[in-house]
Amino acid sequence: MTKRLNIALLPGDGIGPEVMAVAEHALTLLIDRFQLPLTYTSFPWPSHAWHQQHGHMMPEDGVKQLRSFDAIILGALGDPGPLDAPDRFVLPDSISLSPLLALRKQLDLWACERPARWQPGAPQYLSDPRANDVDMLVIRENSEGEYSNQGGRLRAGTPHEVATQVEVFTASATERLIRHAFERARQRAKQRPIPRHFKDEKSAQVCLITKRNAQPFWGDLYTETFLRLAREYPDVDTHHELVDAACMKFVQCPWRFDVVVASNLHGDILTDLAAVLCGGPGLAPSANLNPEDGSIPALFEPVHGSAPDIAGKNLADPRATLLSLAMTLEWLAHHHPALGNAAQHLHDTVNADLAKEGDTSPQHRQEKGTLETGQRLYALLAQ
Ligand code: NAI
Ligand code: MG
Repeated sequence: MTKRLNIALLPGDGIGPEVMAVAEHALTLLIDRFQLPLTYTSFPWPSHAWHQQHGHMMPEDGVKQLRSFDAIILGALGDPGPLDAPDRFVLPDSISLSPLLALRKQLDLWACERPARWQPGAPQYLSDPRANDVDMLVIRENSEGEYSNQGGRLRAGTPHEVATQVEVFTASATERLIRHAFERARQRAKQRPIPRHFKDEKSAQVCLITKRNAQPFWGDLYTETFLRLAREYPDVDTHHELVDAACMKFVQCPWRFDVVVASNLHGDILTDLAAVLCGGPGLAPSANLNPEDGSIPALFEPVHGSAPDIAGKNLADPRATLLSLAMTLEWLAHHHPALGNAAQHLHDTVNADLAKEGDTSPQHRQEKGTLETGQRLYALLAQ
């Protein structure tokens, strides 16, 4: 008998509930159309609203409750905005984002995968036509590094204050991350012809990002691990960029990148840039995974945050969340082929809608509101 799967939906704050409402409705349509062996539960936490009532972002056993699901989808956490809301209640980001970091760490979702592929119709901010070929996968370390939350503030609030923010890099987490990057590069190469902008004949490539000129301790650990593992993957081309140069090259020649592997902070920053290369924050999905243990629920979320500047205004693009839902269904597809078909259908539907958006002639101009985008997509999804 097919296992019945359960997905937890965590709308969160700001535009999170707006984009999640669209994803939830799309999910119900997909469940019906593909007879998916799937149910879902939507949670009012973690959120600012929950904090206002209960004094914390989520129940004490929140992670334990979510552990029993097969996958989790998060909208966004953080400042719920908008700035002129009468009941505006804002917590420091260190509190409002803590459930996300707790989930990533306590579930050991150590690999954050953020695909960045430009699709026809999406905004294109670069003038070089090769930018339409951007197709990279940024893999961000998700369990340690700069986000280890070690350190403190001594003599806080005085002119003699000292703040320390300690970065922690372990050999084991470095090795599993970099090995995963090589494995994913190999898998991707099997799924497509050699990209025409690659310099040599190898069809897979991994670029390591560090700041090893200024931060040599972890930079050297990453580099040595990378060079050692590269010997096991002679079919994969390798190169290295310092993170600042990588920012330049993401803009100058992003079509040259394939898999990019980076620390927690560097990966976080580079993936906002990669999102814009593919049309903007409203189109960039992501997955937080434990590739070694399929029994741990993976967490999927748009790359963007709670966008307080547009919250409550029907301006949020829900497609990054829909693409995150497609990644969720794809990740669960080994349970049942219908899940893979539903993922493909959702992916194709979002891309078909985007392609139409590229046609800006007045009779085809599309409404960009969250609700209008949802309505258009529901009609396509049901076809
Ligand atoms: P943000 O990603 O929320 O917004 C940056 C810019 O992108 C804003 O101008 C916003 O309007 C726009 N934007 C974001 N998502 C959009 C969408 N779906 N459609 C159209 N435009 C969109 O980043 P920001 O402003 O730095 O952070 C706001 C809050 O979100 C902060 O509290 C931050 O800590 C939190 N945050 C939470 C994340 C999460 O829950 N995973 C990730 C990133 C930030
Ligand atoms: Mg970020």
